Amino acid sequence: MRPLNTYLFLLILCIAFSRCFTLSTLPPGVGFGNGVIDLGGLLICQIKNFATIWTVNEGGPDNVGATFYEPSELPDGFFMLGSYSQSNTNSLPGWVVAGKDTTNDPSEVILKSPIDYTLVLNSTSLPINQDGTAYIWRPMAPEGYIAIGNVITRLPEKPSLDKIRCVRSDFVTIEENGDWIWGSGDSSHSNSLNLYSTVREGGSRIEFWVPTGTFLIQGNGSTATSVLYLKNLPGNFSAMPNMAQIQELIKKYSPVLYFHPDEHFFPSSVSWFFENGGLLYARGQESKPVLIDPTGSNLPQGGSNDGLYWLDLPIDDASRSKVKRGDLQSAGSYIHIKPTLGGTCTDIAIWIFYPYNGPAKARVNFINIDLGRVGEHVGDWEHVTLRVSNFDGELKSLYFSQHSKGTWLDATKVEYQNGNKPVVYSSLHGHAAFPNAGTNLMGNGKIGVRNDAAKGKMFMDTGINYTIICADYLKPLIGEPSWLNYAREWGPKINYDLKDEINKVTKILPGKLKRKFMGIFSSLPNEVLGEEGPTGPKWKDSWDGNERV
Ligand SMILES: *[C@@H]1O[C@H](CO)[C@@H](O)[C@H](O)[C@H]1NC(C)=O
Ligand SMILES: *[C@@H]1O[C@H](CO)[C@@H](O)[C@H](O)[C@H]1NC(C)=O
Ligand SMILES: *[C@@H]1O[C@H](CO)[C@@H](O)[C@H](O)[C@H]1NC(C)=O
Ligand SMILES: *[C@@H]1O[C@H](CO)[C@@H](O)[C@H](O)[C@H]1NC(C)=O
Repeated sequence: MRPLNTYLFLLILCIAFSRCFTLSTLPPGVGFGNGVIDLGGLLICQIKNFATIWTVNEGGPDNVGATFYEPSELPDGFFMLGSYSQSNTNSLPGWVVAGKDTTNDPSEVILKSPIDYTLVLNSTSLPINQDGTAYIWRPMAPEGYIAIGNVITRLPEKPSLDKIRCVRSDFVTIEENGDWIWGSGDSSHSNSLNLYSTVREGGSRIEFWVPTGTFLIQGNGSTATSVLYLKNLPGNFSAMPNMAQIQELIKKYSPVLYFHPDEHFFPSSVSWFFENGGLLYARGQESKPVLIDPTGSNLPQGGSNDGLYWLDLPIDDASRSKVKRGDLQSAGSYIHIKPTLGGTCTDIAIWIFYPYNGPAKARVNFINIDLGRVGEHVGDWEHVTLRVSNFDGELKSLYFSQHSKGTWLDATKVEYQNGNKPVVYSSLHGHAAFPNAGTNLMGNGKIGVRNDAAKGKMFMDTGINYTIICADYLKPLIGEPSWLNYAREWGPKINYDLKDEINKVTKILPGKLKRKFMGIFSSLPNEVLGEEGPTGPKWKDSWDGNERV
């Protein structure tokens, strides 16, 4: 018999491997998951093998220092575009891109060697805790080319000009500062030095901009002021997944959505809402609402959210309370697929429809307060977005939408079940998405609206009954459901004075606390307090751009 240890070892191995997304399971396609992405003559790949060059043990975020790496084991024909560095707050190293020029025409060359280097850091006399001396060299690019990274060495000699490549300037774009990696943090001194990363989920023009993983140096004679990104051609989605690959990604990574044990208001399918009496109102004809057919084909199409139409619950009390409760049985997810980060990633936005958003609760110091009608609204659209790398098909990060804003979380920091399936908590009544159970307070830390999240018995695997509602890059185009093109609100404007309502529910509070409470409330986004029914997925900012953080 094998010793118990062997079984344990095998078990751990199985668990470890079940978390890995093996490429062999991906259906075949052209550009997705190949490890290499073509930006139009410039091939890029992500290097995750590194030689550690230098470590500093102080400075930067939390004063924990940073580590500097040189990419190693580059595939044939690929060149380094910059060394990699990250703050020691991260334990696992990330990645940096390397590039290969596939042009044959000598007048069109995309990658060129630098003509010289400037020394931007000589750590010899830096009074810091470091493991030896290091030098950071900024390449001087030939005319028409830009160095998007730096070289770090242990030796004081200039590196060889063949060490790195500069990129033709039409492949490079400029963004605002990336995340701070290391340095004094003080930018006012002429010889203070700071390093910034060129990887981030944020940024606005995410449809074209490709993060590179190199770092930027500011200060000490380095004139660079902005982060440099590579650029894809507009509309070039050669690395995006095809339909079979999308289905596989959804099957693998679709989150399991848990509802709170006390939840009263569950999701439903959109057609269930219509079939069970959802009504369309038109301004000026309030007494004559019309029933909506199951596909929403009699909803007004397009236009803007001008208040001319809105939806509401059925009129009679029994149907109203039935529709408010939703119908988990019918519920499915509605999925929007779009390219991000210059087509090097795929965003899979998973939308859930709840007929009703229940009343909110607040907390003031240790006192819990029911907010009465505040927070209630008809028609609640919520979403979670998966960001998948088009290099290797791995899940990189998740976005949790929370009342018109939200947060990105690295895929390694999320709870999973059954291998790859992220666990998402839908908060009680408000249905905001959270990565963890507990009371998430929106406000100032002591006073705010409660978002209670807990793993109840009820849950929904968002990948079991889903509809892809849009993937504009795919040809032929997917037909969009009629309800997606309804631009107005999915619920009526609620007619109450928020101040009055809050006054009513805060009667028990002493005057000073009450004023503080009102102050916090007036700073929260409208969506938290639910004065209006929200618009549908296509009319949110994130439909065409990045998620709001
Ligand atoms: C997109 O890039 C690929 C690879 O470089 C190229 O073959 C294709 O023609 C490009 N498509 C467009 C629309 O630019
Ligand atoms: C700034 O660069 C000079 C050389 O140009 C070097 O002597 C000095 O140590 C550098 N300062 C820092 C903080 O690295
Ligand atoms: C680095 O600095 C030390 C002392 O500050 C100096 O002696 C040395 O020449 C410098 N190295 C280079 C390559 O500039
Ligand atoms: C699946 O979802 C569709 C629409 O999203 C819905 O009409 C249907 O009832 C759902 N079916 C099941 C078995 O959940």
